[in-house]
Amino acid sequence: MKEPIYLDHAATTPMHEEVIDAVSTCMRETFGNPSSIHQYGRQSRRLLDEARRTLANSIHAKEKDVYFTSGGTEADNLAVIGTALANRDKGNHIITSKVEHHAVLHAAEYLETIGFDVTYLPVDENGIVDVSTVASHLRDDTILVSVMMVNNEVGAIQPIREIGQLLNEHQAYFHTDAVQAYGLLPIDVTDLMVDLLTVSAHKINGPKGVGFLYSQPAVSVQPHLFGGSQERLKRPGTEALPLIKGMEKAVSLFKNDLAKEYEAYRTLFLDQLNTLGVKYSINGNLENASPAIVNLSFDGMNVESLLMNFDLEGIAASSGSACTAGSIESSHVLSAMYEQNDERLNSAIRFSFGLANNEGQIKEAAKRIANVISRLQ
Ligand SMILES: Cc1ncc(COP(=O)(O)O)c(C=O)c1O
Repeated sequence: MKEPIYLDHAATTPMHEEVIDAVSTCMRETFGNPSSIHQYGRQSRRLLDEARRTLANSIHAKEKDVYFTSGGTEADNLAVIGTALANRDKGNHIITSKVEHHAVLHAAEYLETIGFDVTYLPVDENGIVDVSTVASHLRDDTILVSVMMVNNEVGAIQPIREIGQLLNEHQAYFHTDAVQAYGLLPIDVTDLMVDLLTVSAHKINGPKGVGFLYSQPAVSVQPHLFGGSQERLKRPGTEALPLIKGMEKAVSLFKNDLAKEYEAYRTLFLDQLNTLGVKYSINGNLENASPAIVNLSFDGMNVESLLMNFDLEGIAASSGSACTAGSIESSHVLSAMYEQNDERLNSAIRFSFGLANNEGQIKEAAKRIANVISRLQ
């Protein structure tokens, strides 16, 4: 059995050892409910406040504007559905893009079923939304624009600051899903002019099942849950303190030069594939993209057999395609970037780099991939 090589960090990441320590220390030492007034509760409240401060600082926001959630999906749902419902008196129109994560897309589709009008913006061949297209679809009754910061399938970086500037004079609130950008790109919510921003911990070597939504004070958001007064009523429920402490630790381990490190992996990976004579095309472009993600199509191959054979070789990668009733449905992201009958849709594989990798593994992965491709040809 070959040593497994994990190249699927955009799906999830291994927890950092120090994060595991932070989670278990909290579980062992601090079990009080942060809402309790006795010393057990006060101790938990102090730890919770500390974490909220670290997370707020990480996006240059104020502590009171950070709302803990069960992860990116919940934060996206709260941002999209919660903002739409709370602002219905101002309009009925929402703008998002065709390449959003399903946590945004399916939330938008739900809004359509209850009478909202949703525009799904097209993207170019690189998966990028054009700011002028946002402008041309803005209406007086637009109440929300949701465009992700970094695409999870091809890594495309969207022009968030430019969209923020465009919306500055408009009533529409601006939400960005920053799940794949957080920890890699600098994020300053004031500079980006975003009103709402989604983060998930398990993409940054933190625990699964925790994340947060940043929401600036002027945005009204209708909660999905009803219960206690936690998270200033926007997200009731006893806070998952050990997971939150794990997320805080993951953030405290952020490195400034991470993007450079992954760029070096990406360059090495592609160079090795080239040296080994592997024929591939890059989906999207490398300039305006997260260096942690590279999406390649292998001419004449199909996704299912590629993934199966990579797995047999110990390579963990993924595709954006969904397997529905035994047939493979093309990725909605690549379908938005290319023509429907484009060959690249059938053989696209996403490789994503992270903590579980080193240079040796990247070289070895390229070698095994080259073997698979020549075997399948
Ligand atoms: C861009 C993006 N948004 C949202 C999510 C959902 O986050 P979570 O898994 O924490 O619910 C993901 C995770 O796949 C993602 O990549």
